[in-house]
Amino acid sequence: MKFFIDTANLDQIKEAQELGVLDGVTTNPTLMAKEGITGYNNIINHYKAICEIVEGDVSAEVISTDFEGMVREGEALAELHSQIVVKIPMIREGIKAIKYFSDKGIKTNCTLVFSAGQALLAAKAGATYVSPFIGRLDDISTDGLGLIQEIRLIYDNYGFDTQILAASIRHTMHVIDCAKIGADVMTGPISAIDGLLNHPLTDIGLATFLADYKKGN
Ligand code: E4P
Repeated sequence: MKFFIDTANLDQIKEAQELGVLDGVTTNPTLMAKEGITGYNNIINHYKAICEIVEGDVSAEVISTDFEGMVREGEALAELHSQIVVKIPMIREGIKAIKYFSDKGIKTNCTLVFSAGQALLAAKAGATYVSPFIGRLDDISTDGLGLIQEIRLIYDNYGFDTQILAASIRHTMHVIDCAKIGADVMTGPISAIDGLLNHPLTDIGLATFLADYKKGN
């Protein structure tokens, strides 16, 4: 399972990278705005800075909602760095753009996916990644993990190469449950990754080992 971090915060990206388990980064316009990154040039420079920190795929989202605009933006983003994945919303024009980029060998991440039908369409168009937002589904009392299960079944039935990128991860149990179901990738906050480290018996055990070592020295 690949671990992506879902942030535009460079310090958090560095922290996850230093842990040695980071496979990529996802961003979106909200996450960029949260870091105060606004204006075309600043946004472009920020993507470049992220690519300098991580070795894996970095999703950069288009703002256009028409095919021509998405192609223009996506091509410019893809030229920035070989690690850039063009993030495209799950809309009619987006599907056309995903097919266009897929035919050109440019990686795509189909975002804002909330149903198995949308995921099937994204895979048919040749998306590299499909991003079901499980946290936002949970927020409206709908089974986010159940959607991951449905998509896994459909992709396995037909051998689609599209990778399931479980997005809108809110906590550590989401990460573990997605791993059980067989999501290819998860993207979440650093807190969800850090939570994987914790167990009180580890802390108690280590404290005992260190205390016993001191007794003998
Ligand atoms: C995915 O690529 C999105 O950036 C993200 O996971 C959305 O998460 P949220 O629902 O916490 O905003």
